[in-house]
Amino acid sequence: MNILILGGTGSIGSAVTTELVAHNHNVTGLCRSETSARRLAALGAKPYRGDLRNPASWRAALRQVDVVIQLAASFDDDMAAIDAAAIAAIKQEARYRTSPLRVLYTGGCWLYGQTGDHAASETSPKRPISAFAWMEENAFSLLQDPMLRSCIIHPAMTYHEDGGGVFARLLTQASSGLPLEVWGSIHTRWPLVHRRDLARAYRLLAEQPELCGHYNVAAQMGVPVRDILDEIIRRYPHDGAYVVRNRKYVMFKYGNWAEGPTLDQQMRADKVQAACGWHPEVRDFTQAVF
Ligand SMILES: NC(=O)c1ccc[n+]([C@@H]2O[C@H](COP(=O)([O-])OP(=O)(O)OC[C@H]3O[C@@H](n4cnc5c(N)ncnc54)[C@H](OP(=O)(O)O)[C@@H]3O)[C@@H](O)[C@H]2O)c1
Repeated sequence: MNILILGGTGSIGSAVTTELVAHNHNVTGLCRSETSARRLAALGAKPYRGDLRNPASWRAALRQVDVVIQLAASFDDDMAAIDAAAIAAIKQEARYRTSPLRVLYTGGCWLYGQTGDHAASETSPKRPISAFAWMEENAFSLLQDPMLRSCIIHPAMTYHEDGGGVFARLLTQASSGLPLEVWGSIHTRWPLVHRRDLARAYRLLAEQPELCGHYNVAAQMGVPVRDILDEIIRRYPHDGAYVVRNRKYVMFKYGNWAEGPTLDQQMRADKVQAACGWHPEVRDFTQAVF
């Protein structure tokens, strides 16, 4: 298939690009810099110069593809507006097609809010954290468009071997001998997935355009932060000291997005497993390199 990826150099996007290329798809990747263009080429994708902020610069690339994957995020204050403009461009371009355009859009576990002991499935109510509430609206508008076949993928908190992903902050503190900073509570649970497994879910869903709607992707439903700390302490020469910061503190210090890691969450991924046979290869984060 011909696939356009937005954000193909990112933490998740680079793994998705690698996975798609390894399965013989023709991948074109949007890139706003020479560095990103080189990165995409090294991953086996065709770089397409443009900026997410300016859909006119990449809209034409949609004409040649079967699938578009949205994994680009600026994480700036205008992130919501940029994403909405990108979606509007995708929807407009789809009107000129003879067959519906397949769209894989990225949401996230934080759209379910705090779940406590009730693991979120795709039918659970969404109670997104304020920083990402706009994703719900954008996802809804994609799902409503008859010219699109949209799939909203909700990744669990994603880790990997190249810097750690969601573990990065704790790993940096551990390697510098600082107390580990726990956000919220040591009992908070994080749904987890390795990015290689997540990337396989994107590919499987890209390949099956009849599968529309919301799909959660998690290998572990909810791992207590206590267990994550224990594993990090096991790997580093660290005395195990930690300090707990409450939600208000971290949101004030790091921004509204910092509410996410304070949520006590569990998320199920039965639907993607039943629909396309997805199974995680890394079932336990303690077995992974990060
Ligand atoms: N990481 C997680 O644990 C997680 C979990 C659930 C959901 N998500 C969601 O998944 C999405 C991707 O997250 P991520 O962690 O992979 O992000 P990331 O590593 O920061 O990657 C962001 C990507 O967006 C691209 N980008 C940013 N601004 C751009 C622009 N103006 N023009 C073109 N490209 C631009 C970047 O390209 P260059 O920098 O190369 O230019 C990069 O490829 C986000 O929506 C995030 O909320 C992430």
